[in-house]
Amino acid sequence: MTADIRVINEFLESLTQHPKTPDEVRFGDTLFYNWDESVPYSSDLYAIELEKDPDRDFVILNFADIQCHDGEAFSEVGEFAEETMDKLIRQTRPDLITLSGDNAFDAFAYLRLIRFIDSYGIPWAAVMGNADHTGLVSEFWGAYQLAEAKNSVFDYGPSGMGYGNYIINITEGGHIIHTLFMLDTHHEEEMQAGSYDHLYDSQIAWYKWAVEGIAAEEGHTVESTAIMHIPVPEYQNAWDSVYDAETGTLRAPYCDHAFCRVQEKMGPPDFNNGFFALCKALGSTKNMLCGHDHVNCFSIDYEGITLTYALKTGYGCYWKPDTHGGTTLTLSSDGHIRVDHHYIDPTASEVKKFVLEYFGINRYGDGIVPKFPDFKG
Ligand SMILES: [Fe+2]
Repeated sequence: MTADIRVINEFLESLTQHPKTPDEVRFGDTLFYNWDESVPYSSDLYAIELEKDPDRDFVILNFADIQCHDGEAFSEVGEFAEETMDKLIRQTRPDLITLSGDNAFDAFAYLRLIRFIDSYGIPWAAVMGNADHTGLVSEFWGAYQLAEAKNSVFDYGPSGMGYGNYIINITEGGHIIHTLFMLDTHHEEEMQAGSYDHLYDSQIAWYKWAVEGIAAEEGHTVESTAIMHIPVPEYQNAWDSVYDAETGTLRAPYCDHAFCRVQEKMGPPDFNNGFFALCKALGSTKNMLCGHDHVNCFSIDYEGITLTYALKTGYGCYWKPDTHGGTTLTLSSDGHIRVDHHYIDPTASEVKKFVLEYFGINRYGDGIVPKFPDFKG
């Protein structure tokens, strides 16, 4: 109960402390920056730097689609989600935690989640999902809470491109060895009716500017990962390239992958903005990580880029017991990343199993309507 009152206080304080609009600047900080292609790139000015210990790998732990409503966040559903995250943090000992969007549905759930993640004292970085405006004071309010948290490295990014497009450079020995592009893929139906949105042309131009700017600074193209909520349409091509629909089996080596499952129709936009093709052409981005489709999970090498559906974390919105947990990106000194899914069994605890199954909380297939009800997985 004390914790609940603290969150209520934080919420009331947030109404008086955060700027009402993105253009209103408080406390002398500039929130968004103005960008066009003529601006010279500088990592010092436009990127966040995190240093890798040369003696060990740099571990990034991703939580996907935690997505609790207020009522859930303060019930067993929220507590079980926190238990899952706590287990994953202790298992993987991350250097950075990322949230790939659809972080929470409502304002109190948002504040509770932020306080929980921040309490570990580990740097963390979130992107916005298509649900990250639902039930909040505004999407900007959510972005402001993410940016103000003590250990969060969330940055607003350039103006006019949404909330939270930012660059994290991971360095070792004074050099950038890998870049994370944190990207806002927006909501739905703003760019095309009946479709989920994706990156604006301006974001894609900004990404190209940064890839080329970092390459100029380092004297070579630096490997990178794009972390965003909504996948690119090529996720479907990747799946089609490894799944034999006639036999219902996966081709090698994916038949040996513990987590290579498509259990709902993919929800990329109904248009192709050319982002994947540009990534291929520039040769920097070797990994994409998305959430969005809660019961899909894979990591497939497709035309030189590893496309990853992260494991869904927690029991908010809709979920399935066989695709639940977190995903790590493990960076070695050579700049390459290895992707691993970390399964957390919701039925390992009898109490949890009873609560989740008896009440059928958000269980996919137990009355929960998937995004595309006609899909036969
Ligand atoms: Fe979601």
